Amino acid sequence: MNPIRVAILTISDRSSRGEREDVSGPTIQKAAHHQGWVAETLAVVPDEIKAIRSILTQWADSSVFDLILTTGGTGFAPRDVTPEATLGILDKQAPGIAETLRAHSLKITPHAMLSRAVAGIRGATLIINFPGSPKACAESFELLAPVLPHAIELLRESVAAETGHAASSPQELL
Ligand code: MTE
Repeated sequence: MNPIRVAILTISDRSSRGEREDVSGPTIQKAAHHQGWVAETLAVVPDEIKAIRSILTQWADSSVFDLILTTGGTGFAPRDVTPEATLGILDKQAPGIAETLRAHSLKITPHAMLSRAVAGIRGATLIINFPGSPKACAESFELLAPVLPHAIELLRESVAAETGHAASSPQELL
């Protein structure tokens, strides 16, 4: 399997203004590199629905990335709009991923129930929200890492089938 291609989006007003160093994005990048994945694209945007949707759409529709991981903006603060921004551009939701992340994180901290993170698919790209703290990012990544290669494999297959790169029936191979 070709290495998984990841893009990482940090969603934070303060980091986007340069008032706080983005530690969460690089934390995810390091974890992805540890898996042997390609993760050279990182960006920081403010907690603005339009800005978040614009970059998610651009990245997903570029067909360059298998996976987009976002960090931040999933909580209850008035400016936290990452789940709403993400839901607005998804083709399909992947509730099992978000549910599992919350269930796993609840074993670590009761605050996990305060994350409204979502996950889903746009085109052939899987998009997953992580909470904002570097600790939460590391914990979330660790849980998902073993499952993501199979998820990406399925997404790649579906694109190949749709674009005619894969035979849809054995007769087509004759
Ligand atoms: N999940 C994990 N695994 N570890 C954590 O430390 N922190 C929680 C929660 N999920 C946490 C976690 C906290 S304190 C909050 S407020 C919510 O994620 C939302 O975080 P966000 O607004 O930074 O996205």
